[in-house]
Parts: sequence; structure tokens; C-alpha cells
Amino acid sequence: MKKVITYGSFDLFHEGHYQLLKRAKSLGDHLTVGVTTEHFDQMRGKLNLADSLITRIENVKKTGFADEIIVEDHEGQKIEDIQRYGIDVFTLGSDWEGRFDYLKQYCEVIYLPRTAGISSTALREDRHKIVRIGIIGTGRIAPRFFKETSFVSGIEVVNAYNPEAESAKAFGELFQVHVYTDDFDAFLSETDAVYVASPNETHSDYVRKALVAGKHVLCEKPMTFTYAEAVELYELAKKNKVTLMEGIRTAYIPGFSQLLSVAKSGVIGEICDVNACFTRIGTPGSREMTDAKYSGAFLEYSSYTMLPIFKLFGKDYKKVEIESIYGKDGIDIFTKVHFYYDNKLATAESGAGVKSEGQLVISGTQGYILAKSPWWLTREFDVRYEDPNKIDHYETAFSGEDGLRYEIAEFVSKINGTGGNDYKLTAGESIAMAHVVEKFMKKRKEYQDKL
Ligand code: CTP
Repeated sequence: MKKVITYGSFDLFHEGHYQLLKRAKSLGDHLTVGVTTEHFDQMRGKLNLADSLITRIENVKKTGFADEIIVEDHEGQKIEDIQRYGIDVFTLGSDWEGRFDYLKQYCEVIYLPRTAGISSTALREDRHKIVRIGIIGTGRIAPRFFKETSFVSGIEVVNAYNPEAESAKAFGELFQVHVYTDDFDAFLSETDAVYVASPNETHSDYVRKALVAGKHVLCEKPMTFTYAEAVELYELAKKNKVTLMEGIRTAYIPGFSQLLSVAKSGVIGEICDVNACFTRIGTPGSREMTDAKYSGAFLEYSSYTMLPIFKLFGKDYKKVEIESIYGKDGIDIFTKVHFYYDNKLATAESGAGVKSEGQLVISGTQGYILAKSPWWLTREFDVRYEDPNKIDHYETAFSGEDGLRYEIAEFVSKINGTGGNDYKLTAGESIAMAHVVEKFMKKRKEYQDKL
């Protein structure tokens, strides 16, 4: 019996898939089809699949060509499957020509001509209209955001806004988009969504204006300085039926989700303590080193360090204590936030003028998780135990440099209603962080008022 194998995502099952499976089957007597998991697709940079794994498997089944359907969930699996199932022919569409020639040492490799004019990508794009997004604030992060949107299907940067003419001009020339400098309403009218990347103190006003105008909003952290305002903005988004998301990118990185799942799985026993640290000494004169009112270590970095704490222990801590080391004009150069839960402790440390080991340590009764810097762009982490020779090392693929594309992909799927429940960063968690921000701001102001 001649055994054939092929693989694919088979998202939004279409004629090209049908023809491929038909021809694959005719290459032998028995056809095995490998359908990719969402996680595997994400790892190879395919974001925003429309159909669930079950639906995609069902669709392959319905063709009647597959004698066996398996799930593909990791790199290197093809070699294992070919040997395990005694495969004679490996086949894929011609868009993969040459890419799998290394399998020729195990079986015959045949690339079948692809059906012209159809693809899941094109169908996904037809299904939802492209999200036209405008960028508010054209400073340091905006160019990165612009570049990262090109890796996410279904979104396009159409314009930008910055009242500072010089920065606006430079950005417009670099990216060939119109950058508005005064007419905010005209800017908004061309968009479906905005990305707020302006100075911290301007975030909430822009967010409010955009939400009132019925636009979806992705806002850089921290979105607001007060609990009440965070509540108000999420309520406004709900009322106007638009998506509001705080851009704490770590929350959307696949490796970080895996880290949380491993931590909660019981392998380290009961989790007792979380310690998260992020420090970056900025260039002299930069906002985070000089703006004592709206920047500093805590405001810039604590969204990252509070995130694993709230994700693992929840937002209902019993007590919080905030301590800072202050620099010129009372800016905090290092801030430690201690959270006290029922029989659990956590610390979030942020430094802008103090350097430390930026690591995340999650301690349990059986072992601990160690994620080294840059853990906030999670690519790998260890599970360690009493026996120092026993280490379980986890690695996940990570596309791009700064993880922004995962956040953008999440934003697009929330807008399109394809992302399932809101669990990576909930409104409640974002509001709870704003509450800590408010407490911090009050304490720092009290210190500064005495100077
Ligand atoms: N395929 C094909 N003709 C098409 C589209 C896909 O023959 N028009 C083949 C692919 O070459 C592959 C299989 O169908 O062997 C499954 O492809 P998959 O990647 O799931 O489909 P695409 O439509 O290419 O998906 P995407 O646009 O997400 O890359």
C-alpha cells in the first residue's frame, strides 16, 4: 500500500484545499492529513486563523479524501510522522517548492501545482474589512508599530496625528502617510481604530475622544493615572460597542501565555511568591529619566512587572505597599511594589536610573520558574527544582523583535470578534493596574511637594 501525507492549516476551507487533497489522495492508496494547531501556526508567524482546529479538521474530513487525520503541533514533526506512519510520499502545494527537500532522505517529495487565485489569507481579508488605523503620537514607538502592522493581516496604518510639527513631518516622510498636526476630527474621520502612543499624560484624553467618536482604541501603557478614569473608559468602550485594549505587549506573547499555563499547572506546586523586575537606564535627558511628573521608573515599566502578578494571583490583593528611590526633582529611579495576598507575596520592581537583573521568578512549594531578561518578550524559561541537576527548559518561537505584532493581531481579532474571550489582559486587570498607578502617583507627589 502506497502511503501519502500532506499538511496544512486548511483555514476557511476552499477550492484550492479540495483540489490539493484530491490530487494528494490520487498519488497513492492511503492519505494522512496533518492539520496544524493554532499554537503551531502562531509560532510559524501565521496569526489570526479564522476557524478553530475542530472546524478545520471537520472540513478536511468532509472531503472524504483523508483516510487518517492527525494534528501537527511542533517543528520537526514531519520527520517523525513519516517514519512512524511508514509514509512513501510527502506532498504539498507548489508554494512550498524546495522547502521540504530535506525529507527526500525519508520518502518521495512531490510539490503539486497550487490552484490559482485563491488562498485562506485572501478569504480572511475579504471576510472582515481591513482595519484602518491611525497613530496618535509619532515618537519612539510609532515607527516600530508601523513596521509590525505589516506582519498582521487585516490592518493598515492610514494616517497619524501629532501636534508637534517637526516630528509629524519626519514621520510622514519616512512612512508616506499623512500626519495631521491640528485637525484631530479630520484625522479620526479617516480611521476605524487608533493607536495611542503619545506622552503618558495625554493618553486618556485621546482615548476618550476616539471612543466617543466610535473608534476602536489600542493605548500604550499606562492608559490612565486613576482608577475612576480607567473604569470610565472601559464603560465608554462597552457603551459604544468598540474595542479598548491597553498595550501591555507581554500579555499577548505566546511564550508568556505558556509560562503562565506551566506555572498554574502544578509542576512547581502551590505558587507562593512572584518577583518581577524590569530595569532600563535611559539616555540622559530622555523622558523616563527627567519627567518627574508623568514618567520615571514606575510609570514606564511597572505595567510589565505587575502583569504576571495579577495573572497568577488575581487583582484582589489584601494590601499594597509602594517604595521608591528618588532622583532629581523627585523622579523615581527605582520603585518596588509589594503585594500581599492571602498567604502569598509578590513584588514588582521597576528601575529607570538603577540597573538590576531583569528577571521573573515564580516560587512554589515544589520548585520555581525562572525567566531571564528579557522575560517580558518571553522566548524561554526554566522550571527548576530542589535538585539543581533537574531543569525543564521551555522555548517558544517568537516572531519579530519586540512582540508588538502579537498585540496588534489580538487587537484585530477582538475588533473582528474572532478572538474568543478576553482573557490575556482583561479590563478588570487593566483597571486594577490603574488603581496601583493612582496610589503611586499620590505617594510620589507627596514626596515631591516636600522638596
Ligand atoms: N493550496 C493549494 N492551492 C491554493 C491554496 C492552498 O494547492 N490556492 C495548498 C497549499 O499549497 C497546501 C495546502 O493547500 O499544500 C494547505 O494550505 P494552507 O496553507 O492551509 O492554505 P493557504 O490558502 O495557502 O493558506 P494561507 O493563505 O493562510 O497561507
